[in-house]
Amino acid sequence: MSLTSYTKATKPFEGQKPGTSGLRKAVKVFETEHYTENFVQCILSAMSGSLTGCSLVVGGDGRYFCKKAVDIIIKMCAANGVRKLLVGQDGILSTPCVSCVIRQQQTAGGIVLTASHNPGGPDADFGIKFNIANGGPAPDAVTNKMYDISKTIVEYRICPELQCDISKIGTQEFTVDNRPFTVEVIDSVGDYVTYMKEIFDFGAIKNLLRGTNGQPLKILIDAMHGVTGPYVRRIFLEELGASLNSAVNIVPLENFGGHHPDPNLTYAADLVKAMKEGDFGFGAAFDGDGDRNMILGHKAFFVTPSDSVAVIADNTDYIPYFKKHGVKGLARSMPTGCAIDRVAEKKGVEVFEVPTGWKYFGNLMDAGRLSICGEESFGTGSNHIREKDGIWAVLAWLSILAGRNMSVEQVLLSHWGTYGRNFFTRYDYENCESAPCNKMMAALDAMCDDASLVGKELSHDGKTYNIAKIDNFAYTDPIDGSVAKKQGLRVLMSDGSRVVFRLSGTGSSGATVRMYVESYEADPSTFTKDAQDVLKPLVEIALSLANLKEYTGRQEPTVIT
Ligand code: G6P
Ligand code: ZN
Repeated sequence: MSLTSYTKATKPFEGQKPGTSGLRKAVKVFETEHYTENFVQCILSAMSGSLTGCSLVVGGDGRYFCKKAVDIIIKMCAANGVRKLLVGQDGILSTPCVSCVIRQQQTAGGIVLTASHNPGGPDADFGIKFNIANGGPAPDAVTNKMYDISKTIVEYRICPELQCDISKIGTQEFTVDNRPFTVEVIDSVGDYVTYMKEIFDFGAIKNLLRGTNGQPLKILIDAMHGVTGPYVRRIFLEELGASLNSAVNIVPLENFGGHHPDPNLTYAADLVKAMKEGDFGFGAAFDGDGDRNMILGHKAFFVTPSDSVAVIADNTDYIPYFKKHGVKGLARSMPTGCAIDRVAEKKGVEVFEVPTGWKYFGNLMDAGRLSICGEESFGTGSNHIREKDGIWAVLAWLSILAGRNMSVEQVLLSHWGTYGRNFFTRYDYENCESAPCNKMMAALDAMCDDASLVGKELSHDGKTYNIAKIDNFAYTDPIDGSVAKKQGLRVLMSDGSRVVFRLSGTGSSGATVRMYVESYEADPSTFTKDAQDVLKPLVEIALSLANLKEYTGRQEPTVIT
């Protein structure tokens, strides 16, 4: 029986502008009649020539509204001439896994249903993101096109009668408008696990956990009730043989158990507490959709994401994938601490500084100029896919611990011994009023043109810094020449220390101000000091330079990492 699709009249909604990582709004907004359909139509229409007859991947982090959104997407893809959809079982696919499947199955792209680390549930957030054929988040040119379409949309196409059961793995065939349409429900974990086994030496990691060459390493992995639960179970418990108490919160929940599924010192406080007790030698947590990670050592020794990526880049000998493919270049986002730059210099490879957002790494990887990259926002990854990858980062770390037979802390001390330490901290002021924050950014922007600030001395508590340059970061993509402007205010000091101010691009309402502070120390006696103590004077200088407390009305940040 052939099903028929229909054209439904609709009107544009304001603000369907994809942010750093897709369209993120409250669930209630996505539940507004036609809202989700409009945006899905914008994604499909923006594909223009490559839409008809194509294959797409669909999956998400399992949060509330995912299943409903999958249903809408299936019905709309069928009506828009898509030939085949690969859907994760029950709609579940981690963000890195979507990227992996797009690349392996060579689809035209994928739709990722997640609001990443934002809370989930009927009163929390949802999100829709489009990834292109290379497996990475759509670049600005594509998301701008979607946004433009959203402003003038008058209709969308849907096949309301199509019913598809996504709870069972297998292929279902339909005929829609006399065209064949296939939905293949895929195992959410299988291909990804196979790929990880190619990239890493699972035998070496198994030996590390078992203690074949010494003490067994006890690990504690916190999936925070996000999408990584099934991946953690399969990889760490079944494949690597870690004991059952090595993994917690591995059942994905629609509201992440009421928590904020963000792997940092504040929102993964339970993990930090458990690690402090000292029973475990290695700890890690992931965010809702599995692309972010936090790495902890014995007694909750914290590895900043900026150091984490530098350490991985410095220790690629222990990872079979890099032995096979080599390391072509390294990269970080602009606010990320500069530790990786020093590794690049020593290894004699290129290093790139891109705006915040994983999408900016994609072109460099496709052009064969970038192998390993990371962001201060707990994102670490490589050119094995085109998303950051939390589980990959943990496997990379375990490979290094196995290869070097050291603890997390020993690895960091050795790294700092070679390169010096880039102390780094980030202050977040979440959910502030937008208007004053925009004013603050405008005032900072005006400082870029104020030549009298260059050379100015700023002091606090016995520490003095000299302003070398203030600018609003702009980036020209070396591959396609596209330009991204106003990506964050940078205050660069003469000794290489930096302060950066940005507004978050991932919130769903209000404004979140981020302040990033970094300074470099070559003196080994400083290496074991607390980053907060070392950076305190520069933090105070930065706060008063931006008049941040006055503009935000906040005395303290909501999160410090
Ligand atoms: C997402 C993106 C990252 C980006 C981060 C920044 O996680 O995938 O690439 O670094 O958002 O978020 P922000 O809230 O600082 O814009
Ligand atoms: Zn995420």
